[in-house]
Amino acid sequence: MRVLVITGAGVSAESGIPTFRGKDGYWRNLDPAKLATPEAFARDPKLVWEWYSERRQRICNAQPNAAHAAIAKLARHADEFLLVTQNVDDLHARAGLPKEKMVQIHGDIFVTKCSRCDFSEEGRGGSPEPPTDRAVLQRGRLRSIAPTSEDIINLAYCPECDALMRPGVVWFGEQLPWSELQRVENYFDRGPCDVVIVAGTTATFGYIIDWALQARAPHGELIEVNPEETPLSQFATQLVREPAAIALPKIVDELVVSR
Ligand code: OAD
Repeated sequence: MRVLVITGAGVSAESGIPTFRGKDGYWRNLDPAKLATPEAFARDPKLVWEWYSERRQRICNAQPNAAHAAIAKLARHADEFLLVTQNVDDLHARAGLPKEKMVQIHGDIFVTKCSRCDFSEEGRGGSPEPPTDRAVLQRGRLRSIAPTSEDIINLAYCPECDALMRPGVVWFGEQLPWSELQRVENYFDRGPCDVVIVAGTTATFGYIIDWALQARAPHGELIEVNPEETPLSQFATQLVREPAAIALPKIVDELVVSR
């Protein structure tokens, strides 16, 4: 069985991570779609870092849920498997999915990278401790600006070129990382998939729909797991209108038994 799974924020929702477009997505009355942009960072880097810092903290305090566990189980049983996730959290990895079976197409929130050159570093260094921006910053050359509140956010500057450091995620309007795109293309080039599962995403981006359709073999399954309709729904061979943590364990058990 050759499998592609595509996930979005809905898969982490039951771990307590707010989705982008859901009602809990707003932060301090601000729309994440307007914070996750190069323009917002240029205008107010401290505000954008505060948002990402809070999200890092929340992710560190969260646990993978039954949906993450089911996907890791499917990866163990499939002959060939790739997860393409739009999620920048580490919950798939913490559920036991090996890095080589996963593409984080929108980046990794625990990476801090230079906004100008190629310098980057892991924000948390594999430790289960919540990352603090101070910890990240201590490794670079630091300049603190306007520490005001309890959760002080110091802006960090690149030790190589002195530009502002930023979260290692893909913002609206930015290109997808080339190396990760190549990994997706390579997987497609090696053959079509018997099963494609798309879970917890509004499938807003055209490439998500394209990949799901491109990957599916002519008689393969395209299973959508989402309580709500999306632009992908019309193409699905199976629609599962349930939360991912309920639906995915059942779907995976059926697939594992039947193949
Ligand atoms: P969204 O917030 O757009 O959508 C979350 C989806 O999950 C919605 O379709 C919900 O119906 C669904 N959902 C909610 N709870 C669920 C649950 N318990 N089980 C299953 N599904 C559930 O998140 P994404 O589609 O991931 O990109 O957003 C895609 C991208 O847009 C993000 O990666 C981010 C964002 O802006 C960038 O920042 C580039």
